[in-house]
Amino acid sequence: MKRLLITGAGGGMGRVMRERLATLAETLRLSDVAPMEAAGPREEVVYCDLADRDGMMRLVEGCDGIVHLGGISREDSFSRIMQANILGLYNLYEAARAHGMPRIIFASSNHVVGFYRQDQFIDTRAPALPDTLYGVSKCYGEALAKMYYHKFGLETAIVRIGSCFEMPRSHRMMASWLSYADFTSLVETIFKAPRVGCTTIWGVSNNDARWWDNSEANFLGWRPKDNAEDYRLAMESSTTTPDPNSADAIYQGGPFTSFGIKPD
Ligand SMILES: NC(=O)c1ccc[n+]([C@@H]2O[C@H](COP(=O)([O-])OP(=O)(O)OC[C@H]3O[C@@H](n4cnc5c(N)ncnc54)[C@H](O)[C@@H]3O)[C@@H](O)[C@H]2O)c1
Repeated sequence: MKRLLITGAGGGMGRVMRERLATLAETLRLSDVAPMEAAGPREEVVYCDLADRDGMMRLVEGCDGIVHLGGISREDSFSRIMQANILGLYNLYEAARAHGMPRIIFASSNHVVGFYRQDQFIDTRAPALPDTLYGVSKCYGEALAKMYYHKFGLETAIVRIGSCFEMPRSHRMMASWLSYADFTSLVETIFKAPRVGCTTIWGVSNNDARWWDNSEANFLGWRPKDNAEDYRLAMESSTTTPDPNSADAIYQGGPFTSFGIKPD
């Protein structure tokens, strides 16, 4: 690729992907509203609010791939979620439609299915059961991506990220963890694939305890290599076991299922 756009580049995953995806394109265009390090060689740093329609048009112009990590990444007030995840996503897709239809990786979330229980093993055809307004906004994002694919042919890989951190930090993450290396190889696989259509993929490592069946995405050939079990001892020595009757131990969305509505 000539130019790859990473939104949310100042965030937790964005900072890691800035380094790991450096060789995937001739130039990385990095965007956020949060502080970012100054542009290095073969980088462009652009501050842009996802809710700014004209700014998003300029941001996407000239990009041939987009890794969309930007937005509200946890439960928040509806107005904040609406600006970044609802309006912002529409602005991104309209900009992509206007500027050459670059392939998009949409960072969706396990919180679209947060109310499934941890003893259920589900595939991507299972109906959504979001656990928060945040999860509902990701359901909207998935629907928007499908509409732009079926109406205009704009391809999206919808990645339902589990928990993407350096290592698993809780018992729940023994199932949901996605390593940085496996996310990197997934992004590379998606951009190298001849065709992705609008495919939903569980963003999860090869954890023995995972809850999700990725067979819909098998055709891509992505094979995650890391396994949260390799970190079980370290995880158990730094965290307490959750009460078996708590949301954290019952639902796939864990504590998100018990959050209330945050006022504006
Ligand atoms: N990290 C995980 O385990 C995980 C799990 C599931 C889904 N995700 C999704 O992956 C993406 C990245 O996650 P993260 O952990 O790096 O989150 P993060 O909160 O660290 O980063 C998100 C970035 O988006 C930016 N942002 C927020 N509102 C914006 C706006 N209106 N305009 C422009 N930028 C805005 C923030 O400033 C932030 O830097 C998010 O979309 C999140 O929902 C992450």
